[in-house]
Amino acid sequence: MDVSPEVRVGELTEADLANGFLEALGSLSDVGLSAAEAADVFRERRKAGIHTFVARAPDGRVAGTATLLVEPKFIHRGGRAGHIEDVAVHQDFQKKGIGAALVRHATEEARRLGCYKVLLNCFDRFAPFYERVGYRRHDLGLRHDL
Ligand SMILES: CC(C)(COP(=O)(O)OP(=O)(O)OC[C@H]1O[C@@H](n2cnc3c(N)ncnc32)[C@H](O)[C@@H]1OP(=O)(O)O)[C@@H](O)C(=O)NCCC(=O)NCCS
Repeated sequence: MDVSPEVRVGELTEADLANGFLEALGSLSDVGLSAAEAADVFRERRKAGIHTFVARAPDGRVAGTATLLVEPKFIHRGGRAGHIEDVAVHQDFQKKGIGAALVRHATEEARRLGCYKVLLNCFDRFAPFYERVGYRRHDLGLRHDL
């Protein structure tokens, strides 16, 4: 499915925090932050070089988001790996190609930033969504709750 050309993907700005961003992220998990608290997190993320992308509807409201982390590695002669995290599309905007557009954008940004691969973890049921945009099943994700 192709995304509507009126939906634009770009970098998150502080104004987006109070314009649908937290609600879009809420389709993934509880956020529990006010826009002001989210602004502190956003500043910390920017300092750490974390890229947060948003898809904006024609009225400017955030419809979805995806995050890219770039990891300079010691192996592969200092090569960079990209990690995609927190892909979420607001329920009102799902099934319109927006999630796919966000993942494609994050992947292309990783390429532009010199990454030789991009990794992500997801539940099994989402694998077909990522396979449609060029990802393949790779390894097993594990987690330790702290
Ligand atoms: C998963 C999610 C990001 C998909 O976003 P979306 O904008 O609805 O997806 P798209 O419309 O871009 O779908 C692209 C393609 O993947 C398919 N697809 C979407 N969700 C799918 C799913 N859960 N299982 C299988 N295929 C799926 C679509 O049918 C579409 O296929 P097509 O191109 O043949 O029509 C969205 O459903 C979401 O935000 N879910 C809740 C948050 C979440 O759990 N995120 C975790 C992702 S790891």
